[in-house]
Amino acid sequence: MRRSLRAATVAVLALLGGVATPARAADDPLVVGVVLPMSGDNATFGQESWNGLQIAAKELEGKDPSFAFKLVLSDEQSKREQVAPQTKQLIENNGASIVVGSVASSNTMQAAVVCKEAGIPLLTPASTNDKLTAETEKYGEDVFRVCFKDSFQGTMLGRFAWKTLHAKKAVALVDKGQAYSVGLSEQFTREFTALGGKVETEYYTSADKDYTTLVQKVGGMKPEVILISGYYPQAGPMIKLSKDAWKGVPIIGGDGLDSPDLLPLAGETDAQVYFTSHFVASDEDPVVQGFVKKYQEAYAGADPGAMAALGYDAMYAVYEAAKKARAAAGGGKPTPKQLSAALRGLEFTGVTGKIVIGPDRTPRKAVVIVKASGAFQFFEKIQPE
Ligand code: PHE
Repeated sequence: MRRSLRAATVAVLALLGGVATPARAADDPLVVGVVLPMSGDNATFGQESWNGLQIAAKELEGKDPSFAFKLVLSDEQSKREQVAPQTKQLIENNGASIVVGSVASSNTMQAAVVCKEAGIPLLTPASTNDKLTAETEKYGEDVFRVCFKDSFQGTMLGRFAWKTLHAKKAVALVDKGQAYSVGLSEQFTREFTALGGKVETEYYTSADKDYTTLVQKVGGMKPEVILISGYYPQAGPMIKLSKDAWKGVPIIGGDGLDSPDLLPLAGETDAQVYFTSHFVASDEDPVVQGFVKKYQEAYAGADPGAMAALGYDAMYAVYEAAKKARAAAGGGKPTPKQLSAALRGLEFTGVTGKIVIGPDRTPRKAVVIVKASGAFQFFEKIQPE
């Protein structure tokens, strides 16, 4: 009887958009506000991270019943203007002690401004733009990540293009409406030109309906490598359109290409596509394989992408921080300030690698290069220097 009542409570909360950890030792769970793009353009980013967060939350429920977390999910619909009001609601109406999200850096910036005002820590699973943790006047001192930054990702892309692909001339395609896209291409350009290469930049926006003219123009520039510095909903169709115009020219990108929808959008193609990311399911590392198995069991055999792994690691970061803050909290529920203090210098091993949150509130982690031909194949893993 008690059991079924408990199950019913969980279901109701799930309908409201949250998933509650059933009441255990604590009647007063720590509320984790989660803001993610569950629908709209970047929906796979939100869905995968939410899946990862939930796997971790369920696992923790069994592992350590002395903690209770309540995850409350808000769908920002891949719309920048949705993020601030939703974040505010998670804090003011749902009582979030920490906010986890979002994915696209420009959207996370909106959440950061609200969290700064409210004095609540923000943990982004995946936003890599350097400004989020550098521009403290705007975003405060309590923005943390479990992912690396674009200064690292972009540098590695520049080296890869120069040293592995032996390209000397690059064209970078930049979505001028996305901080991530602009920042990543700047970092790539800095490294690639320092090595001796030449980069020309072309701009697009996600509002553009058709990339045919752009793709033709880029083909005419005779590049030896093409960087699509953006997200999969635009990159996929560009790859599809590029069949003749970019024939034989390798295409590279960052983690924004890491989506199960990339290859279906690109269609039948023999293009050589590589992207940098945080995790790839075909990595033989036993920690990665352990997570792949859990994910497949939970989600009908689907392989997890980087976002799923980062979501899982973000939930563990919250748990590890709460554990570390427990002493300061007198054994009870930590305050947002105590959580924030605990996130500084936090160390644990995640499925995306060893996470040690440094003074820039970012871990130094390996980047994985994924070859996307037919499937996402592990190409190489590069450790930070
Ligand atoms: N790094 C991207 C950004 O900052 C988001 C992203 C991360 C997308 C990981 C896919 C996978 O906007």
